[in-house]
Amino acid sequence: MQSTPAEVINLKSPPAELRRCLSAFDLTFLGIGAIIGAGIFVMTGIAAATQAGPGIVLSYVLAGVACSFCALAYAELASSIGGCGGAYGYAFVGIGKLTAWIIGWDLLLEYGMDAATISIGWAGYVNHTLAAMGMALPQKWINNPFEGGIVNLPAVFIIFCLANVLSIGTKQSALFNNLIVYIKLLVIALFIGIGVFNFNPANWHPFLPFGSQGIVNGAGLIFFAYIGFDAISTAGEEAKNPKRDLPIGIIASLLICTIIYVIVAALLTGMAYYSDLNVSSPVADVLVNLGHRYSAEVVALGAIGGLTTAILAMYFGFTRVFLAMARDKFLPSKIAKIHEKSGTPRRLIWSIAVIMMIIAGFFPIYQIASLVNIGTLAAFIAVCVSVIILRHTKPHLARPFKTPWSPIVPMAGILLCLYLMWTLSATTWISFGLWTLVGLGIYFAYGRKRVNAAPLH
Ligand code: ALA
Repeated sequence: MQSTPAEVINLKSPPAELRRCLSAFDLTFLGIGAIIGAGIFVMTGIAAATQAGPGIVLSYVLAGVACSFCALAYAELASSIGGCGGAYGYAFVGIGKLTAWIIGWDLLLEYGMDAATISIGWAGYVNHTLAAMGMALPQKWINNPFEGGIVNLPAVFIIFCLANVLSIGTKQSALFNNLIVYIKLLVIALFIGIGVFNFNPANWHPFLPFGSQGIVNGAGLIFFAYIGFDAISTAGEEAKNPKRDLPIGIIASLLICTIIYVIVAALLTGMAYYSDLNVSSPVADVLVNLGHRYSAEVVALGAIGGLTTAILAMYFGFTRVFLAMARDKFLPSKIAKIHEKSGTPRRLIWSIAVIMMIIAGFFPIYQIASLVNIGTLAAFIAVCVSVIILRHTKPHLARPFKTPWSPIVPMAGILLCLYLMWTLSATTWISFGLWTLVGLGIYFAYGRKRVNAAPLH
């Protein structure tokens, strides 16, 4: 029989726990750090050029509305159920262990794949900046073996650095995150400042070159840009006052980012004709084309910062969901030990680091990155469903934050997420189906017998 975490640690004193050190401000910045990453800097241009035209602004509004319904559901469960498993933990209590396992399995995909994919994007931006300074790395050190290289060294490097940051302590990680988020916000403010004076209304004609369906298709693509506010819910055991601060962090970070996204998308499509935006660094390119070369370099540096915090937050979420699943014995519990001094799950952080370094360094994972969107949407739906079910099965549960107009708001969240899922490609659906089948296989072969009761969150 497998040992419980307490037996493994075999301590006379109680096993170490995660530290409650995050304020509402830290949580909000953790959310902004997670949300603003590759999406706004890369996908806005591509989605405008290929899906929505300047109507991408409305795609951002649509995806923002869908996410805000889900964020309200997250806020309710974060304040009433808590724990560090996020949607996994809520689905366990609200729906049952099979669904919880599938959602946890999806979250591992979301956070792991996201962190690894963003580190590859980070590597691209860093090499771009090094090249501008005449110090480009040789191709063999920035490409994986499937694309003619040996290893993507910068991607491995950033994961290694962030593993160190996360190991040192959660408060230290939050301070590091806050500092970079400030820089990221300043860079965006710089772009907005320039954009306001270079907005050409003629670029907004036609506004919907792909018709109104383009708005929805664009929203399916840029939904990625909103992913991350959910990672805050995995800080439930590290928030100083989780019942109050988790809802604040989740809702405030999403609101701030939605406003920023709509403004940036509006300006970007007003600064260049939409069909010219199909490039990997549209924000910086638009500035260069308008003669703001130095600002473009500052924006590129801001993008590197933005990507750094996005990796950090996803990586953080990955470790906390894994921790929750390991405590419930769905995953090996030996690595769930919390380090006495730092109050962080160091074994877990480094085990995950090794896996992510291998994936980011040696595999071309861009092709399956769209799986992140569908996996996240599935997790959002599970959270909304859990809110509805728990209102019936546990009507007296203390709910410091309540989703307004339930069940209408969570139902609307479910329908909008389903609609966005519907717009994703058949390949994404097939890959998602295969991932779920593997998850089900593991569940029936291994997890089902090991986990019998709902966890105490
Ligand atoms: N929302 C995150 C990003 O845009 C995942 O990179």
